[in-house]
Amino acid sequence: MLKKITLLLAMVFVMTNSALADPDKLATLRKGALNKEVKAPPIPRVYNDDKRQVRSYPEQPPTIPHQIRNYQIDLNTNRCMFCHSRKAIEESQAPAISITHYMDREGQFLATVSPRRYFCTQCHISQNKVKDLVPNSFVDIDAILQQKSKK
Ligand code: HEC
Ligand code: HEC
Repeated sequence: MLKKITLLLAMVFVMTNSALADPDKLATLRKGALNKEVKAPPIPRVYNDDKRQVRSYPEQPPTIPHQIRNYQIDLNTNRCMFCHSRKAIEESQAPAISITHYMDREGQFLATVSPRRYFCTQCHISQNKVKDLVPNSFVDIDAILQQKSKK
């Protein structure tokens, strides 16, 4: 047992030591060594074309297809609800928040948006026009089902 622990400690030591020894060799997403200041990339533009995007699965919070800069959400005001509340959609022609946004955690429906869905940007985000940082091999369920039915 003692032998195993010493071996483990030695391994951890070697691993951390080799990483600390040469920070230039650390692979990072910021494309530069951790010990060097890299130039900040330009602030990317957001998709603002008003085209609602496909959801990857039904439970996914849809991404926001419009600009949300300076849309205030705090205790007193919720800018999103100016357009997305049940009452507002006639004028705004925005999709109303769905019934799940009225549910409390016991599954009871409230008269207005539930506190757990009040801060919209906890779940919904707009999309930046940038290249993916990491490869993505996600396959839509429809594609999988189609392949299955062909077999
Ligand atoms: C000025 C009105 C307005 C405001 C304010 C607004 N939206 Fe929207 N939103 C729309 C409209 C209209 C659409 C439909 C697509 C479009 O025209 O952009 C939409 C679409 C969306 C969608 C896509 C829904 C889907 O089914 O794909 C989401 C999510 C969304 N908004 C979230 C938000 C959030 C979160 C905020 C606050 C940060 C917000 N919106 C503020 C008008 C608004
Ligand atoms: C805890 C996560 C969460 C929060 C917070 C949240 N939503 Fe959603 N939203 C979802 C999910 C998940 C869906 C898709 C499934 C559903 O309707 O529940 C959704 C769907 C929507 C849709 C599409 C409705 C439809 O019928 O197509 C709109 C619009 C929307 N949300 C707006 C908002 C706005 C505005 C707020 C803030 C008041 C908000 N959401 C807060 C998770 C969230």
